Amino acid sequence: MALNYISAAEAASLIKHGYNIGLSGFTPAGTAKAVTAELAHIAEAEHAAGRPFQVGIFTGASTGDSCDGILSRAKAIRYRAPYTTNKDFRIAVNNGEIAYNDIHLSQMAQELRYGFMGKIDIAIIEACEVTDDGKIYLTAAGGIAPTVCRMADKIIVELNAAHSKAAMGLHDVYEPLDPPARREIPIYKPSDRIGTTYIQVDPKKIAGVVETNWPDEARSFAAADPLTDKIGQNVADFLVADMKRGIIPPTFLPLQSGVGNIANAVLSALGHEKTIPPFEMYTEVIQNSVIGLIREGRIKFGSACSLTVTNDCLQGIYDDMDFFRDKLVLRPSEISNSPEVVRRLGIISINTAIEADLYGNVNSTHIGGTKMMNGIGGSGDFTRNAYISIFTCPSVAKEGRISAIVPMVSHHDHTEHDVNVIVTEQGVADLRGKSPKERAQAIIENCAHPDYKQLLWDYLKLTDGKAQTPHSIQAALGMHAELAQSGDMRHTDWTQYNK
Ligand code: COA
Repeated sequence: MALNYISAAEAASLIKHGYNIGLSGFTPAGTAKAVTAELAHIAEAEHAAGRPFQVGIFTGASTGDSCDGILSRAKAIRYRAPYTTNKDFRIAVNNGEIAYNDIHLSQMAQELRYGFMGKIDIAIIEACEVTDDGKIYLTAAGGIAPTVCRMADKIIVELNAAHSKAAMGLHDVYEPLDPPARREIPIYKPSDRIGTTYIQVDPKKIAGVVETNWPDEARSFAAADPLTDKIGQNVADFLVADMKRGIIPPTFLPLQSGVGNIANAVLSALGHEKTIPPFEMYTEVIQNSVIGLIREGRIKFGSACSLTVTNDCLQGIYDDMDFFRDKLVLRPSEISNSPEVVRRLGIISINTAIEADLYGNVNSTHIGGTKMMNGIGGSGDFTRNAYISIFTCPSVAKEGRISAIVPMVSHHDHTEHDVNVIVTEQGVADLRGKSPKERAQAIIENCAHPDYKQLLWDYLKLTDGKAQTPHSIQAALGMHAELAQSGDMRHTDWTQYNK
């Protein structure tokens, strides 16, 4: 059956007000771009004519500006799950304009299958190749594409020439059955392949193929600085010490690492730490630093959901596919982030906190307890199931006006039961095997900024010190209240709670 080639505008016109659309991609990598950008024009025209036009959007993770940015500026998003990093989207969410469901990324595909979010009307899938018999070859990410292709009434394929056909073969497409038929995911080492290199769909469901040439919109991160380098070195030193003590096997364990500058600095430090043998990654996002370390032989294999790399780095991978073919695999997010596989493989997880409290609870998502930053992403998938779970962050934010170590987190994402280690540029708090009171000592001593140490010790004096988890319920968010009032947590005065 011959495929029907249409324009992006024609494809967008198939999407009606109230539809739910499911997208390929994970981060800006591999996300459909041209049709969502056209959809924004339709929404603006409909709004100008006084008619409502909004859609629900299901994705693997964040997208680029051509989806979350353009559509939130056009006020075309009613509902969105599960993760975004877009500034305009963030503003709209925190203005109450978008219903945003921030869930663990491993759960997105299965929650769609379980019917928690309604039906999927149209899937928009970026491909580097599509065949007449319905084989869709994905580009730089797995995301939720297999599930949305199967569940959607119709599929639009964005055939994007900016991605080389060399991407064919990168993917391992596998979708688990749902309970009670679910079996184990048979991945026993990061390099295991268990599926197909393409998504097979009924070609009759492909409503149109849109030819594009639109590079991924991946962010490039700022260069490493002394602070992120210090955090990275602290993580590397900690892991080397754990290996020497025999906690980590001499062959090392696969790593998961989050996104951003700190993650790049951590990987760079680990890569250059020659007492650590060449290691593997079982992670959700591969950044430029991982590709460099694969080239250097320091990383033996990378399993991920996406290649969230700069476009020149991506082109370098495509150009060198003979080298990378047996060193990389891209998986759907429910496999790359599978709690079952993470626990089986013994992953060392490294993610970034917005703030952590004295007992090891971590907030990754909310500024001041109420305003959404990005979302939990995959940090919970990995943290709860890791062999060793690590959180990193600078000890202070906003030129020292905010301490990342607080008496009580203003929003909970990762509980004290899941967080093993906290690392700032000041040092490392190893929370493993410690009671809450012992954890508080370790965190203040090793992780808090010197400007805040005494303030945090003084907070503990407000408690009777006897409870399992000592708190002054009145003062627990006192540093946040001071920030809201004066703009500087350093001005916190505990005596007001002591009356
Ligand atoms: N209170 C208020 N603002 C804070 C803060 C705090 N305790 N800590 C940091 N910030 C601000 C920073 O000042 C910065 O503000 P700016 O954008 O105005 O400069 C912003 O928050 C981001 O902080 P930054 O230090 O640049 O961190 P980052 O880019 O490394 O992102 C997270 C940190 C936590 C937001 C990010 O890692 C995230 O979204 N994590 C959750 C998802 C995740 O872990 N994914 C990976 C799983 S594989």
